[in-house]
Amino acid sequence: MPALTIWSVRFALVYLGLGFTFGALMLWNKGLPISGALWSLLPAHIDFLLFGWTVQLILGVSFWILPRFKHPPKRGNEKLAWGAVILLNAGVLLVAISPFLAQLPWILTAGRAAQLISALLYMLHAWPRIKPTGT
Ligand code: HEM
Repeated sequence: MPALTIWSVRFALVYLGLGFTFGALMLWNKGLPISGALWSLLPAHIDFLLFGWTVQLILGVSFWILPRFKHPPKRGNEKLAWGAVILLNAGVLLVAISPFLAQLPWILTAGRAAQLISALLYMLHAWPRIKPTGT
């Protein structure tokens, strides 16, 4: 398993654990209220599970299994894929902390921009690898 896959799947599993925990806390808070402040976890819950877990797992595993090239670098431009992983995680974390830094509204925009650029970088990395195996 390549290093990028190891790290992205590890991060994805951490986001899965945190995302479900935050969801459970909000669910509990609906039935037996603890604090209204717990609703600030909603953006983290959504981004951890949709981008941190689901998208990151797909990114990491697809980097591993998409067809490789005959000659090095066998997985094409790996820098693009690393950039995608770093920006995806930075974006998820920025979006998650944005409700706690309401005086800095650009944090949310920066997080979404990082996620968008991450998607573009991964698309550029993966596109040449969408080809018949062994070519
Ligand atoms: C992959 C799994 C999950 C995903 C992608 C996900 C995604 C979402 C999204 C998008 C929302 C916002 C819905 C809206 O605003 O209408 C939400 C809300 C919520 N989720 Fe999850 N969720 C997941 C799992 C869970 C789990 C396991 C729990 C509880 C243990 C949970 C508890 C909640 C709660 C309490 C809300 C707030 C509902 C409300 O507005 O009253 N979620 N989730």
